[in-house]
Amino acid sequence: MIISTSHVYYHLLFGLLLLHYAPPACPAAASYWTLLLPTIGISAMHMQLLPNDRIVIFDRTDFGSSNISLPAGKCRFDQNDMVLKLDCTAHSVEYDVSSNTLRPLMVLTDVWCSSGALDSNGSLVQIGGYNDGDHAVRVYRSCDKCDWEEMPSGLIQRRWYATSHILPDGRQIVIGGRRQFNYEFFPKTSPSEKAQSLPFLVQTYDRWIENNLYPFVFLHTDGNLFIFANTHAILFNYTDNKVVKTYPEIPGGDPRNYPSSGSAVLLPMRIVQDIVAVVEVLVCGGAPKGAYTNAKHGKFDGALDTCGRIMISDPNPQWVMETMPMGRVMGDMLLLPNGDVLVINGGSSGTAGWEHGRNPVLEPVIYKPDNSIGYRFEVQNPSIIPRMYHSTAVLVRDGRVIVGGSNPHEKYTFTNVLYPTELRLEAFSPSYLDPSSSGLRPEILASVFRTQFEYGEQMVIQFTVHDQVDMNLVLVTMVAPSFNTHSFSMNQRLLVLGGGNTTKIIGTSYYEVVVTAPPTGNVSPVGYYLLFVVHQGIPSEGIWVHLE
Ligand SMILES: *[C@@H]1O[C@H](CO)[C@@H](O)[C@H](O)[C@H]1NC(C)=O
Ligand SMILES: *[C@@H]1O[C@H](CO)[C@@H](O)[C@H](O)[C@H]1NC(C)=O
Ligand SMILES: *[C@@H]1O[C@H](CO)[C@@H](O)[C@H](O)[C@H]1NC(C)=O
Ligand SMILES: *[C@@H]1O[C@H](CO)[C@@H](O)[C@H](O)[C@H]1NC(C)=O
Repeated sequence: MIISTSHVYYHLLFGLLLLHYAPPACPAAASYWTLLLPTIGISAMHMQLLPNDRIVIFDRTDFGSSNISLPAGKCRFDQNDMVLKLDCTAHSVEYDVSSNTLRPLMVLTDVWCSSGALDSNGSLVQIGGYNDGDHAVRVYRSCDKCDWEEMPSGLIQRRWYATSHILPDGRQIVIGGRRQFNYEFFPKTSPSEKAQSLPFLVQTYDRWIENNLYPFVFLHTDGNLFIFANTHAILFNYTDNKVVKTYPEIPGGDPRNYPSSGSAVLLPMRIVQDIVAVVEVLVCGGAPKGAYTNAKHGKFDGALDTCGRIMISDPNPQWVMETMPMGRVMGDMLLLPNGDVLVINGGSSGTAGWEHGRNPVLEPVIYKPDNSIGYRFEVQNPSIIPRMYHSTAVLVRDGRVIVGGSNPHEKYTFTNVLYPTELRLEAFSPSYLDPSSSGLRPEILASVFRTQFEYGEQMVIQFTVHDQVDMNLVLVTMVAPSFNTHSFSMNQRLLVLGGGNTTKIIGTSYYEVVVTAPPTGNVSPVGYYLLFVVHQGIPSEGIWVHLE
């Protein structure tokens, strides 16, 4: 854990606020914020955690000069760049979580508003962008000296604001993008492979607002894709281009995708005897219908405070609506290792898009999916930094959430605006990281743990816990590292592999739990995952495992 003066400062600040407004009956475990770096030189618009605990971060190459130089006097000459053809600053960095340090990287073409996924080897395969980068596929294989590798014509169609999702065979599907009502795969299985049309994206589109960008896409455990755009959702067979099922419309009639920018997650999936019986999606927040047009005219509508939850595996699925403690647009929803959902970042009025958001929501909210309705949301301690349009958040191995970005302006703008371009990197520590929980926290014995698994294989995990263990409250979870941008974490999924009834004591404070690796690629595509042992809601540090 990183101890900093700002950590102390934040604690003091909250202490004062709490004393002033709502003194707690007893000191409960509390969430807290830490300022990690006062500047990373760029605005964290896209983030992906890599299996070596580094985060690759990038914004866009046509922003002009950033606040971090390229390494070793390098410069980038791009005759297509509309702002700065010769640019000696970086627009991508690699952040090392454990040392809290940065390394500038050189990306050659414009990566603005793009998508991506980790491939089965743990490299980021990033898709598209803008201008000279809109057909590009770029690979970032992390190492001490590695840099971006580019395939300028990796895509058939331009992909700007598209959604990527990893498939069971390790390829990624790329869906939509601005004025792209179709999808394609990367890599291609043959040079003649074409983009396929997707009329659903036409049906959910409004050409004045371009309002179904970055659709929410999840791989259902039956092998089809759940695709949500604005208020509609389908189950889609991408192999034969068929809509398998049309879900009911989310109640309320308000759009949830860019620029309305709510967020969505596939809720934690419990595997029991190789079967996931219940698969659910949760969509939260966004902006009401008409908000984008209103924001253009200086009227900033209050954000949606509703979430819709739907069991996509049910033969007769219905939305169940819930109310958040406050409205939120441009929030990010992240799955935490203990199965809670974090809703973080964003504002309470306006929409996504330049200068269109207002009233930052500084308090994250935790949603506990297993509690009964009305007892699911818990408001967390606030940050002091607004994270509006173009902000990001990713879970890291130690259970913290790294938060960066916010730049609601067309260029880097540091003065004379409501929400200046934000270069600070912070960490949000959920209350499970409060030192008062340390006695309950499991520690996985990494030295006796194999990290390579095949589908359906037995996993034997040994761990220690200082305090007494309640065997019934042990869980083993596995989280896929997601690609975060524009309020959506692509490829995010969490599997509950089992726990309690297969946990046994093997020595003083030593335990062993035996679980089974996920059964198929439909349940969890090939690649890297973070595995956690969770005890009474307190997760261990994660261990990287590779599933194949
Ligand atoms: C970024 O660099 C510009 C130009 O040097 C400077 O004015 C600005 O204060 C810097 N911003 C931050 C947040 O470091
Ligand atoms: C992963 O690495 C292996 C071994 O280097 C290589 O054969 C394979 O093509 C790589 N896979 C991908 C998706 O890059
Ligand atoms: C999709 O359709 C193809 C062709 O009919 C079929 O082989 C495949 O099993 C279907 N996929 C799923 C996930 O049902
Ligand atoms: C543990 O519980 C699961 C789910 O109820 C069950 O399928 C499994 O057989 C149990 N395992 C043991 C060893 O009792």
